[in-house]
Amino acid sequence: MSTSVTTSERPGAEDIRSLREANYNAAVTMVKQVHEDLRIMRFVTDKRFPPFQAGQYVALGLGDWEPRVTGVDEERRDHLNKHRLIKRAYSISCSLFHPSGNLVRVTDCPYLEFYVSLIRHSDVGPPALTPRLFALKEGDRLFVESHAAGRYTLEGVQDNDNVLFLATGTGEAPHNAMVAELLARSHRGQIASVVSVRYQKDAAYVVAHQEMARRFPNYKYLVSTTREPENLDPSHPRFCGKRFLQDLASSGELEELSAIPLDPARTQVFLCGNPAMIGIEKGGRIVPGGMVEALSLRGFRLDEPHSRGNIHTEHYW
Ligand SMILES: Cc1cc2nc3c(=O)[nH]c(=O)nc-3n(C[C@H](O)[C@H](O)[C@H](O)COP(=O)(O)OP(=O)(O)OC[C@H]3O[C@@H](n4cnc5c(N)ncnc54)[C@H](O)[C@@H]3O)c2cc1C
Ligand SMILES: NC(=O)c1ccc[n+]([C@@H]2O[C@H](COP(=O)([O-])OP(=O)(O)OC[C@H]3O[C@@H](n4cnc5c(N)ncnc54)[C@H](OP(=O)(O)O)[C@@H]3O)[C@@H](O)[C@H]2O)c1
Repeated sequence: MSTSVTTSERPGAEDIRSLREANYNAAVTMVKQVHEDLRIMRFVTDKRFPPFQAGQYVALGLGDWEPRVTGVDEERRDHLNKHRLIKRAYSISCSLFHPSGNLVRVTDCPYLEFYVSLIRHSDVGPPALTPRLFALKEGDRLFVESHAAGRYTLEGVQDNDNVLFLATGTGEAPHNAMVAELLARSHRGQIASVVSVRYQKDAAYVVAHQEMARRFPNYKYLVSTTREPENLDPSHPRFCGKRFLQDLASSGELEELSAIPLDPARTQVFLCGNPAMIGIEKGGRIVPGGMVEALSLRGFRLDEPHSRGNIHTEHYW
């Protein structure tokens, strides 16, 4: 059942209460503000969330009647109904460890964890959902789709395969879930998760990953920054320049640092986040300069609905 209100004005407190009651089915149980533009959040749904696979995503939603944080592109008032539910897809992330110190599988958690970046400005119009997600605090309510979806999962990965996860920014979220799943099931091949971020502070799970790498000899975690002084200032003592993931792949550094050979017979590669890093259009055309091109030149093939391959992709926009 949905409740409607007049379109031009912000609903009153009573209407907002009814709209929330009619549309929301989950509560915020934890907010970790990594920095002002990055959050880890946990939600618990009123009804038990059905089983899902590590790597899948779910739609989250908030009404356009909800407040937005400031310092983001303004919405035009005449574009708002104030009774519309704004929904976006979010990969289900994983905390990696239980408070007891044991490794935790995403599917064993009593909550759903998300890793979200605040979009302040966008060329496609004012960002709708993240300014509202960043206004949420513990105890607040929201909409969570009734089930997870997506084929960006470990299906098809064999126990001896090497698995290389490459992400930009919050594209690391599904990889956290898949890494925990592989390690929990004692995967025998090498596993590496590599994330490209602007600044070191944008790698929110680094401490947990370092602990996992300490405990599991077949696991490596690498953070590659693009905007730190060592990326931009040639006089910096550790200057290495600005390198995207594709540059690390082409130069051979990715194989060296991850200890995973880019060998299509033994390695599965997962690419998530910025579509320009992935480098493939919706129709399947390979875009020059992306990871798919770099991997195709090494003999890798895209994983597609009717033909299994060893390049798996998840585009965030
Ligand atoms: C399958 C799937 C899973 C996703 N999982 C996540 C996730 O785990 N965490 C997350 O933060 N986002 C994720 N996204 C993106 C998310 O759905 C929203 O698009 C994003 O949060 C912005 O929402 P918005 O309404 O504020 O802005 P929108 O109007 O939806 O987006 C505005 C613009 O912001 C940029 N953008 C969108 N998402 C990101 C991002 N994550 N990092 C950098 N720039 C971005 C793009 O240029 C986009 O055109 C996922 C998207 C898909 C399709
Ligand atoms: N204020 C802050 O400190 C801060 C920090 C992070 C994010 N944010 C906000 O969060 C939003 C998302 O930012 P994000 O950093 O998570 O995501 P992002 O913009 O997708 O960047 C993530 C990483 O991907 C790199 N990248 C960009 N284009 C690429 C390409 N063509 N190929 C390969 N890699 C590429 C980025 O390098 P580049 O350095 O070239 O971008 C960066 O290292 C932004 O809208 C921003 O407003 C703010």
